[in-house]
Amino acid sequence: MSQTEELPAIPQPAAPARFEEATHASSGGTQWWRRSVIYQIYPRSFRDTTGNGIGDLRGITTELHQIASLGVDAIWLSPFFASPQKDAGYDVSDYRAVDPLFGTLGDFDELIAEANRLEVKILVDIVPNHCSDQHALFREALASPAGSAAREMFIFRDGLGDGGQLPPNNWQSHFGGSAWTRIHEPDGTEGQYYLHLFDSSQPDFNWDNPAVGDEFASVLRFWLDRGAGGFRVDVAHALVKASGLPDWHGRADGADTPGYPFADAPMFGQPAVHEVFRRWRAICEEYPGERVLCAEANVHPIEAMADWVRPDEMHQSFNFPFLHTDWDAAALKAIITRSLKAFDAVGAPSTWVLSNHDVPRHATRLGAPSPALRPGDGLGPGDAQPDPVLGLARARAATLFMLGLPGGAYLYQGEELGLGDHTELPHEYRQDPTYARTDGERLGRDGCRVPLPWNDSTRSLGFSDADTGWLPQPEGWESLTRQAQESDPDSTLNLYRKALELRGSHHLGLGNLNWLEDTIGGQLLGFGNSGVLVLLNLGSTPVDVPAGEVLLASSATALGAAPAGTGSLVLNPDAALWLRPPTA
Ligand code: GLC
Repeated sequence: MSQTEELPAIPQPAAPARFEEATHASSGGTQWWRRSVIYQIYPRSFRDTTGNGIGDLRGITTELHQIASLGVDAIWLSPFFASPQKDAGYDVSDYRAVDPLFGTLGDFDELIAEANRLEVKILVDIVPNHCSDQHALFREALASPAGSAAREMFIFRDGLGDGGQLPPNNWQSHFGGSAWTRIHEPDGTEGQYYLHLFDSSQPDFNWDNPAVGDEFASVLRFWLDRGAGGFRVDVAHALVKASGLPDWHGRADGADTPGYPFADAPMFGQPAVHEVFRRWRAICEEYPGERVLCAEANVHPIEAMADWVRPDEMHQSFNFPFLHTDWDAAALKAIITRSLKAFDAVGAPSTWVLSNHDVPRHATRLGAPSPALRPGDGLGPGDAQPDPVLGLARARAATLFMLGLPGGAYLYQGEELGLGDHTELPHEYRQDPTYARTDGERLGRDGCRVPLPWNDSTRSLGFSDADTGWLPQPEGWESLTRQAQESDPDSTLNLYRKALELRGSHHLGLGNLNWLEDTIGGQLLGFGNSGVLVLLNLGSTPVDVPAGEVLLASSATALGAAPAGTGSLVLNPDAALWLRPPTA
């Protein structure tokens, strides 16, 4: 059955749905960010208007109406600031400038004007933990003596052992290798080390120094004054480090700890970091229009993450535990219940996310042979390849299920086209620093960052006039272009459109959740929210659908007929459904 054609009233001799007694609230209040759908644009892969193979701000302005028409509230714009691009722009050399690769400040202003016209907010991705080693402040620190005010903007320390040959502590970089790099002092001698939790080109700021806080307060105002709707805050858990920088035996790259349980790490989740965001919240509140802060706070457990969204701190925090949950009904139910409880306890909405620019896309993850693909690592040509049909079916079902949940949702560009990763990207194209820093042991994140396919007008599928973008697109994307999906009622694009429209008209984002009692042996997950029953079949056999009117199914083959004569329906495996139960 198509998800868009007119659906007849279905005879439903099936039993009515019965719910558990407990109700799980999303949060109080009706502000836009409590129910928002925020779409992540990764500029370099969105749309190129200059023919250099790299997406740009003008490309975003040109195509923004297509994203707005999906029914999203805001765009989270990954970094477009001046940057040597060692970590795809998360290495910023000037926080108040647009990198020429992406355009000019004038282009940003035009983007804001178009966004205002379309009533979509633009959230700027701010990177406060570290900058680029090409930033003027870091250049000045290198040129200044140990102990100088310029060095105090960063985390410089003397080395240990004879002649300082050993780094100041045992911390590992998130991208592999030591988190310390030794410099040459201005006189040419080997000198101090600086801390970089990420690549050596990304020195960490010293947030114990009030001058760092003042600099960022000014940067926030710069973008708020230009019309930014708020900020996505990069690595918001890491700004403040434990005093004395004690050794830690976990790995900052998460390699031994799937799911990133960073509890107790001296470089993450330090109490003083919350003062930073209290100040930022107060700055946002100086401006009209409910400007927001969204935290990338990768801390565990989720109750700890909720500290980032207490009433005087940020508005939202990405729910990574949800993203990392396996395709398992009990596990999903547990994390959703726990998330709603944890965030509601601090008066914040829970958020939900399935894909972003740092993890394999969910159409790949959910079809991959091993469900335990590690965050930060895509698949490569030497790996067992995912099943694209299974991956897409589950991805569509997972999205429909997610968009039924109360709270805020995040979408990553291209997931509305059903895109998976480029899982056979030849190694010579890899640009993620993880790949080089681990000598190829970890493939990194390039596979989920491939330029979008728009139409059949050019060899790069409308992304660029160049034949290929900065990363090549995989085989088979011709049939997944936005243009190809536009008029197909069963396309993934039209599933997203319809789901977002119904999510809005039924006010699902502001609702409460009641779990369906029956899980049919643990394979069905269902909940009621605002008069809509949301069902997801994670098992291997069809399940009976309770009485109700079908609003939307995750695919044309999601529903089947129950055994002859019963007149009711079944929900097939790897499929989801929105249903309106009969009113009593
Ligand atoms: C965040 C970004 C990631 C980046 C890292 C360092 O995790 O999402 O892409 O590499 O921070 O800035």
